[in-house]
Amino acid sequence: MQNQVNISYGSEGLSSLVQQLYKNAYSSLFILVDTNTQRECLSCFLDQTKLDPSAVLVMDAGEENKNLSTCESLWNELSSLGADRDSVLINLGGGVVTDLGGFVACTFKRGIDFYNVPTTLLSMVDASVGGKTGIDLGPLKNQIGIIQEPQQVVIDSQWLATLPKEEVRSGFAEMLKHGLIADSKYWEELKTLEHLNPKVLSSFIKPSVAVKSKVVEEDPREKGLRKILNFGHTLGHAIESYFLVEKDKQRLLHGEAIAIGMVLEAYLSTHCSGLSQEEALDIKTTFKRFYPKTEITKQDIEAILALLRHDKKNKAGRVNFVLLNKIGTPAIDIEVPQALFEKAFDYYTTA
Ligand SMILES: NC(=O)c1ccc[n+]([C@@H]2O[C@H](COP(=O)([O-])OP(=O)(O)OC[C@H]3O[C@@H](n4cnc5c(N)ncnc54)[C@H](O)[C@@H]3O)[C@@H](O)[C@H]2O)c1
Ligand SMILES: [Zn+2]
Repeated sequence: MQNQVNISYGSEGLSSLVQQLYKNAYSSLFILVDTNTQRECLSCFLDQTKLDPSAVLVMDAGEENKNLSTCESLWNELSSLGADRDSVLINLGGGVVTDLGGFVACTFKRGIDFYNVPTTLLSMVDASVGGKTGIDLGPLKNQIGIIQEPQQVVIDSQWLATLPKEEVRSGFAEMLKHGLIADSKYWEELKTLEHLNPKVLSSFIKPSVAVKSKVVEEDPREKGLRKILNFGHTLGHAIESYFLVEKDKQRLLHGEAIAIGMVLEAYLSTHCSGLSQEEALDIKTTFKRFYPKTEITKQDIEAILALLRHDKKNKAGRVNFVLLNKIGTPAIDIEVPQALFEKAFDYYTTA
């Protein structure tokens, strides 16, 4: 199955969005923002596009609001504002807004058109591309959703100017991942960057999106190849969940957790998929340069591994991973003996 993704960039992208909206002659236009993108992005977006929406819908910012109750409020709002099947929704925000807004649009009156205008680095290079929409079910992430491409994604790095530094760094981890799983030259370029400022990063967004959209076009439903996007995520997700529930622990953003996950899984790759020691060290050194070291105690490791075992189907004491043969070449469905997990954490904690 081919999955056509319509992605445009910068101010030209915004113009083509406006053109497409006029061409499609929608009955009414709604814009979804969260409280932060309402403050930081909305007036600029309206100034530049000269759009005159029927209404701006505002949701509270944060993953904890990516749930059914927010959807229900938005469906009610759309309904009471007279939205019909020819209405359209523009999602202006990070991954929470594009995931949830996409889901709200796909389900309202059995589906209305939607457009994504991602405003975080993570949503530009990852969340807004690939057609996965959805919400969380209690503590379980992305359990409810639909795969449906938006009409268009407009990626414009201007929004990064107001994004907190740690959010920029979080999105950057997905870019590094794209280099590791698909493009060693791109990895080499990214790892030598001096500063992660939006100006510098803007020229690296397109190649990252190219990696993700190529994978998604070939395997939209994650039957095989798309799994490579999960490099660093098997252990990364367990780490992310653990730091989320342990209230006395520091907060770890998604990218910060998968940065640790990628170092751990690079170590596993040296044992299970032929990654060289030199390349694993290159990966560890690079992540340590961009991401401050997270203290992980023996007790933490036990709890993280318990979460992993609980979360992943594992056969006879083995868990399936996406690993690397070398930088730029991934290997999927590799079974890893659990005895290696603690050694992987040792590898992360030692210099
Ligand atoms: N659909 C997919 O394929 C896919 C892929 C990866 C991640 N995701 C999802 O994406 C979400 C994470 O995305 P995220 O990191 O963008 O989170 P987010 O949407 O919560 O944004 C992070 C923070 O930045 C704020 N923000 C957004 N744009 C801003 C701007 N320009 N200036 C200032 N503040 C701004 C937000 O309000 C929020 O507080 C998760 O829910 C994850 O499951 C989906
Ligand atoms: Zn991710």
